[in-house]
Amino acid sequence: MITSDMAGSDKKTIFVTGGAGFIGSALVRQLVLETSATVVNIDKLTYAGNLASLVSVAESERYHFEQCDICDREAISRVFRDYRPDAIVHLAAESHVDRSIDGPGSFIHTNIHGTYVLLEQALTYWKTLDDAKKAAFRFHHVSTDEVYGSLGDIGAFTETTSYEPNSPYSASKAASDHLVRAWHQTYGLPVLLSNCSNNYGPYQHPEKLIPTIISNAINGQPIPIYGKGDNVRDWLFVDDHAHALRSILAKGKVGEKYNVGGHNEFSNMQVVGLVCDLLDELLPQSEYNPHASLIEFVTDRPGHDKRYAIDAGKIKAELNWSPSETFESGLRATVQWYLENPEWHASWSKKGFDSQRLGLRQ
Ligand SMILES: NC(=O)c1ccc[n+]([C@@H]2O[C@H](COP(=O)([O-])OP(=O)(O)OC[C@H]3O[C@@H](n4cnc5c(N)ncnc54)[C@H](O)[C@@H]3O)[C@@H](O)[C@H]2O)c1
Repeated sequence: MITSDMAGSDKKTIFVTGGAGFIGSALVRQLVLETSATVVNIDKLTYAGNLASLVSVAESERYHFEQCDICDREAISRVFRDYRPDAIVHLAAESHVDRSIDGPGSFIHTNIHGTYVLLEQALTYWKTLDDAKKAAFRFHHVSTDEVYGSLGDIGAFTETTSYEPNSPYSASKAASDHLVRAWHQTYGLPVLLSNCSNNYGPYQHPEKLIPTIISNAINGQPIPIYGKGDNVRDWLFVDDHAHALRSILAKGKVGEKYNVGGHNEFSNMQVVGLVCDLLDELLPQSEYNPHASLIEFVTDRPGHDKRYAIDAGKIKAELNWSPSETFESGLRATVQWYLENPEWHASWSKKGFDSQRLGLRQ
């Protein structure tokens, strides 16, 4: 359990970019509901942003929403002037690997150029602060374990693993990580970096694996598995990730990076099996029982990384963070949440989302 003191966010003004997305909205909800921080959510509201994730905090006087593109220098400069933040947690990004295969341009633009614009504006603003505020300021860049590339059957990524990104998405995130590091080394901006494994939980966009499995299974649609389903990922419950971000922001050492993971390695086939078992149990009357009968193998993603695993020893040893949820407990909570919130999927259909297969362009 993290107290508001530990969060290091009391009475501070914190920018969260991408706060209408999956992880950003979990962080915004925690900061508004569990601390006394003022939160400014900076989000362009792309196809992936959804203000329905923020209904529980929307009325708070400590929550502000700015619909801005992080690539828009003027707009970002204005929000720094208007709110004068103590910290920025940067999550805004194009985040879906399959989309990056079909159209890398927006990934390069937002993830690399957008991060550059934020760094530039943060630095300009930071230089205006007095010494105490300068020392306390943080630019926390949120990144992915995918920058490290693919593992064989053994081993785990540490903070010193070399970068070998394989998809346009992971390459764009790797580039942004390097920019953030450079702004610290060159200009002294007080940065923090974290690289996290696959997140799951409530409020995730329906194009991602676990919401797709749940939605298709309850509607009797085929559940697509890429290739043989033997790609392995480490899974972390989204609220555990948000807690980790708060710990890093409060106690992380300036200029350092932290790997964040759930110690939950599962193949895609295992994940689908576990979700189907939960649905069989929670929907005993469903005409689609057993839900695993809906599984359908489809063409694999080009360049599909085989295995990711995170060594989260540093954040445990230095910041005393470890996940609260097991995959069993987190997945059960997630499936239950989707069953209890059917309007979640409906809110995306209203925004024009259609679940066509992406990421096959070679
Ligand atoms: N989802 C994961 O499993 C995972 C794991 C590790 C790291 N990450 C990283 O965490 C961050 C958040 O991931 P997510 O899954 O919540 O993503 P998401 O796609 O759910 O949300 C991204 C948010 O960023 C906003 N956005 C996109 N482009 C923007 C722009 N140009 N200006 C302003 N806002 C913009 C979108 O509107 C959306 O609200 C990303 O940086 C991602 O690389 C994600």
